Amino acid sequence: MKEFNEYVKSIDTYIMFRIKQEAARLAPQLEAKGRAPIALAMGAPVASPPKYVYDTLIESLNIPQIHTYSSPKGESWLLDEIAKRMKKRFGVELDAQKEIFSLIGSKEGLANFVRALINPTTDEKAKEIILVPDPGYASYSQMIKTCGGLSYGYKLNKENNYMPDMNSVWQEMKLSGYDETKVKALIINYPSNPLGAMCTKDYLKHIVDFCREKQIWIISDAAYCDMYFDEIDKPHSVLEIEGAKDVAVEFFSFSKPYSMTGFRLGWICGNADAVGAFGRLKSTIDTGIFKVIQKAGAEILNSRDGEDYIKNANTGFKRKQMIIINGFRELGWNIKNEDIPKATFYIWLPIPPRYKTSEEFTNDLLTKSGIVVVPGNGFGNNGEGYFRLSAVADDKQLQEVIDRMKKDGFYF
Ligand SMILES: Cc1ncc(COP(=O)(O)O)c(C=O)c1O
Repeated sequence: MKEFNEYVKSIDTYIMFRIKQEAARLAPQLEAKGRAPIALAMGAPVASPPKYVYDTLIESLNIPQIHTYSSPKGESWLLDEIAKRMKKRFGVELDAQKEIFSLIGSKEGLANFVRALINPTTDEKAKEIILVPDPGYASYSQMIKTCGGLSYGYKLNKENNYMPDMNSVWQEMKLSGYDETKVKALIINYPSNPLGAMCTKDYLKHIVDFCREKQIWIISDAAYCDMYFDEIDKPHSVLEIEGAKDVAVEFFSFSKPYSMTGFRLGWICGNADAVGAFGRLKSTIDTGIFKVIQKAGAEILNSRDGEDYIKNANTGFKRKQMIIINGFRELGWNIKNEDIPKATFYIWLPIPPRYKTSEEFTNDLLTKSGIVVVPGNGFGNNGEGYFRLSAVADDKQLQEVIDRMKKDGFYF
């Protein structure tokens, strides 16, 4: 038969699905030795969504014509609630019709935005470039690849406080042989997956100034903006920065703050031309989201129940984080207080020095102890030597992780 295109041939199945499959394959033998898999790989909260979400879902099913096609943009009552939320949470003013568009989850939105932006080619030299964080969300580079583009990973590390100076990044990129005229966008992701790192408002200003000067788009992935542990140091939106709307779009998700991962709901907002171009592409691809799900999203967004849910969830994530941090300290990891993530449920740690690669460590942890984590190199070359753990399981299971590691000799 005829072959599939070069882009698709060049990628593997998404790393999280591969890890899940491998854990399922090993499950019978792990269960037999009392080491049933404990899933700490996926970045997905396990708690149920707010009750209010379910109540709204059920009630909405009775609305006449709720079963019919929506539009890819989203129903106007959802877009209005999103505009209200952006104003309330960040002080950002948006035109609900021109500057907001609904998404079937932010992953879909990011992938289709990249698709709208990149001119595809298989000619390596002609490929357009998007700068991505390294380590960063594993999907970015794959999305770019499947659209016939090239990603350039900029390094996030402790030395640059996870906020690298973009002028230095640009110089390094040019020195590595990349053509600066091919760069179309910069992806930023704060709070960060996999690092849990936040950035300052000053840093966002630096990003906006830099991208305005270079005339490249900012793609800000704010999936974790409501998952933070300090009420007086909340993550910011890039759109709070003056002039950001000239160059920026930002992606938001209902998945993490409300545990609505399976609902598949999010939004893009920001520059009207970019949202418009993205919308034209989307109008040929999908016909929007089941209106019942949009209703649930619209209702929770500015509700008291939503606020309370986020607060409680974050208290829980902080508690889980500290179970893991204290446990790993007992296991010999040297984790300084200032290195404990201030946001997200991710914990990013070095592998013990006796292991040569991240994968060697994570495979050993899985096959011996049934603990499922992600090797750091899955998030980019700069992630080698580390692993990511999502502190999402229940407290007892997290303690079980530490107990198993002690019993099975996983000391640093
Ligand atoms: C950084 C980041 N962006 C986007 C997503 C996609 O989330 P969703 O498609 O559920 O909105 C994820 C999911 O893990 C993520 O970690």
